[in-house]
Amino acid sequence: ISILFAASEAAPFAKEGGLGDVVGALPKYLAAMGHDVRVVLPRYYSVDREKYGLRLLPFVLTVPMGIIGHQYCGVYEGVLPGSEVPIYFLEHEGYYGRAGLYQEHGEGYLDNDNRFVFLSKAALELCKALDFKPDVIHSHDWHTGIIPALLNTSYLHDRYVGDAASLLTLHNMQHQGNFYPGLMEVLDVGWKHFNFLELEKDDQVNLLKGGLTHATLLNTVSQGYAHEIQTAEFGWGLEGVVRERAGDLYGILNGVDYQEWNPETDSMIATPYTPTTVTEGKAACKRDLQASLGLPQRPDVPLLGVVSRMVKQKGTDILAAAIHRILEMDVQFVIVGNGEPWAHFYFGDIAAMYPEKFACYIGYNEALAHKVEAGADFFVMPSAFEPCGLNQMYSLAYGTPPIVRATGGLEDSVENFNEATLTGTGFKFWNHNATALFDTVGWAVYTYFNNPEGLAALRQNGMAQRFTWEDAAVKYDRLYRLAIRRRRGAEY
Ligand code: ADP
Ligand code: GLC
Repeated sequence: ISILFAASEAAPFAKEGGLGDVVGALPKYLAAMGHDVRVVLPRYYSVDREKYGLRLLPFVLTVPMGIIGHQYCGVYEGVLPGSEVPIYFLEHEGYYGRAGLYQEHGEGYLDNDNRFVFLSKAALELCKALDFKPDVIHSHDWHTGIIPALLNTSYLHDRYVGDAASLLTLHNMQHQGNFYPGLMEVLDVGWKHFNFLELEKDDQVNLLKGGLTHATLLNTVSQGYAHEIQTAEFGWGLEGVVRERAGDLYGILNGVDYQEWNPETDSMIATPYTPTTVTEGKAACKRDLQASLGLPQRPDVPLLGVVSRMVKQKGTDILAAAIHRILEMDVQFVIVGNGEPWAHFYFGDIAAMYPEKFACYIGYNEALAHKVEAGADFFVMPSAFEPCGLNQMYSLAYGTPPIVRATGGLEDSVENFNEATLTGTGFKFWNHNATALFDTVGWAVYTYFNNPEGLAALRQNGMAQRFTWEDAAVKYDRLYRLAIRRRRGAEY
């Protein structure tokens, strides 16, 4: 099968969250199964052409942008590291020649509509330039969510992509690409598609909705989230549309790149360790983490860790509400993250108030993220919603039992600790509030001090879990095949 991935992030080139991890990993595993997979991304300024040896291709793409007129862009080619999967970067100074991916200083770029409509259209134009006829075009979130609608309208009779089936993966329903109706003139697919069964929502153009209604098939990044987004709490106003398409909606849990996230081989942590050496290994990593963040090097205190974007989705607000109570216990707590400015100040103040107990690193730091996974005794994820979540899976691999709110992928990938049978991999709570979080952290802290056998079992159980991309790739393979059959049998 030939597959084109069109996305706004791919690790290691450009990543803000788990979307980048997925787009950077899944294509490699599909290629290993024998598929012809290619990836297309914007060439943001942060994508370093020299470092990755990108090569300028000898053509220019002409991209029809409706009322804006034609836009032109060059294309750089590279490969996903550790594979031969080609990745193409669209070089357009006006749209991508700036510091951020989506925003700067907490302000989203005002032309994100044009920037990502351009990406979506350029991805299709690229196929022509490459003489590549994809069987499936795989879009991700709202940024490339409009592609399925383009395939069913202006590109329906295109020689290269007209027959392509489309799969839209929903990594996050909160962000939908909602823009003024005039964007229809840029999309240029005809105003008749501006209706509530297609692109329109609340009098605006909703790019994600365009994908939800037009994609051959849909999937989310966990089975739990596929059910949740059919409800008002998680659908962000699109639950009705999702329910209409429930028969075409699948859930495939993300995998972990165990070459990156493996305590046996991780060069970013103080001491590598295995399930047999986890006790000593984690003790050494804990000392190192405490030293890195300036906390007293106490071996006997439970150390809780967070690595996360600091936004409401991640439960940063309930953590802020619970943190004083948590710090009344004999614990240490570290946070690595950035996001909403209030949180930077708030947790900075907490660090100043409790220098012996609390430390935070505001910013993005890959090495520190690894050190937290290895050095913490527990990993905390109090998410309001979590389509999949990767950090809880990393923490399982590192023998660091996660404390999670049971939602989406957290519900699916963590099994609650059972003290009687010594089964389970972490600690779960259901109510999304500070009290439930505090109580569950308390349970973990109690386990640390009073139930060493339980803690050892949790570590072993977690480290025995495997969430592989090989498994996920097999499921995507089936979905692509189904989508192709549907598309070829379908009439539009
Ligand atoms: P989301 O995509 O919603 O942010 P995921 O759990 O799927 O959540 O993925 C988050 C990814 O981003 C993980 O690889 C995590 O380690 C990484 N990450 C998030 N914040 C930071 C940070 N401040 N420093 C380093 N890595 C981070
Ligand atoms: C989104 C979700 C996260 C998921 C990631 C990758 O950013 O918030 O839960 O793991 O996408 O699919």
